[in-house]
Amino acid sequence: MGKIKKIGVMTSGGDAPGMNAAIRAVVRACSYHNVECVGIYRGYQGIIEGDFEELTPRSVRNIINKGGTILKSARSKEFRTEEGRKKANEQLTKAGIQGLVLIGGDGTFTGGVIFHKEYGLPCIGIPGTIDNDIAGTSHTIGYDTALNTVVEAIDKIRDTASSHNRLFFVEVMGRNAGDIALYSGIGAGAEEILIPEENLGLDRLLESLKRSKRSGKSSSIVVVAEGDKIGKNVFELADYVEEHFPEYDVRVSVLGHMQRGGNPSCFDRVLASRLGIKAVDLLLEGKTNLMVGLQNGQVTTTNLEEAIKTVRTVNKELLRVGDIVTM
Ligand code: F6P
Repeated sequence: MGKIKKIGVMTSGGDAPGMNAAIRAVVRACSYHNVECVGIYRGYQGIIEGDFEELTPRSVRNIINKGGTILKSARSKEFRTEEGRKKANEQLTKAGIQGLVLIGGDGTFTGGVIFHKEYGLPCIGIPGTIDNDIAGTSHTIGYDTALNTVVEAIDKIRDTASSHNRLFFVEVMGRNAGDIALYSGIGAGAEEILIPEENLGLDRLLESLKRSKRSGKSSSIVVVAEGDKIGKNVFELADYVEEHFPEYDVRVSVLGHMQRGGNPSCFDRVLASRLGIKAVDLLLEGKTNLMVGLQNGQVTTTNLEEAIKTVRTVNKELLRVGDIVTM
């Protein structure tokens, strides 16, 4: 294939603050290189339905500061079928789209890998998810903003926790990854942090709460990742602790989807801009099946399949920091 003349960009899976900044960067990089850019609405479902719109540098004005995604997002069941992907290929061919920039998480990239295998269309992934659960990048777009949202919320919870001498369990997002819980827990000074990668066990939790009480603490915050493996959900956990320590006044706060919204932090805006530019560069260099990411402060590339397959390990140094500073 000769030089690509038209690039499609889409967002898929859970939205994340900074996705708009990434779309903006892709659109403007295309314009810089005199390449047409097409926005695809509602992810893979939008490809199947041909829900496309030509985007120019002016179409993406005033969005760098906005949360969510102007291209909307969806999870498409139809794209998981061969028939669905056939339709998608027909729509892309009809629209003359010769390369795709996929902004999203592992589900988005899995779709890209399969589609590339079947139809050979060049695909470059940009990691956009608050969960920070993609290998090949230290930060996914949206993660930094979500951390700041969580820390701000926990700071507020701490005010009321300490006024009433209460123990709060705060559930944060992270289906399979504990990054949000671990970083925000350290940043917000939580007593304990429960993450999916490391099962603390109920006994250790009770022991740690006992120790806190003995050391003179009158209120406590425990941050729980939604996917933690302790075997009880956050409400059951609160009941369990109350049964063992009737003297505790326990409350639960589930932060939920507010973690996915809001204006992106400066870090996420800059990251999204850098990754968006690099994704277009790669497509124009004839590259495919890669994910752009940030490693040691530099923009790097990782094979898309590896980014999905590689199991990320929890940062032991941070676990230790969490253990020591919560004494
Ligand atoms: O993938 C990001 C994430 O925020 C997860 O932490 C969470 O489990 C999930 O999305 C919830 O997504 P939804 O409500 O859109 O299905």
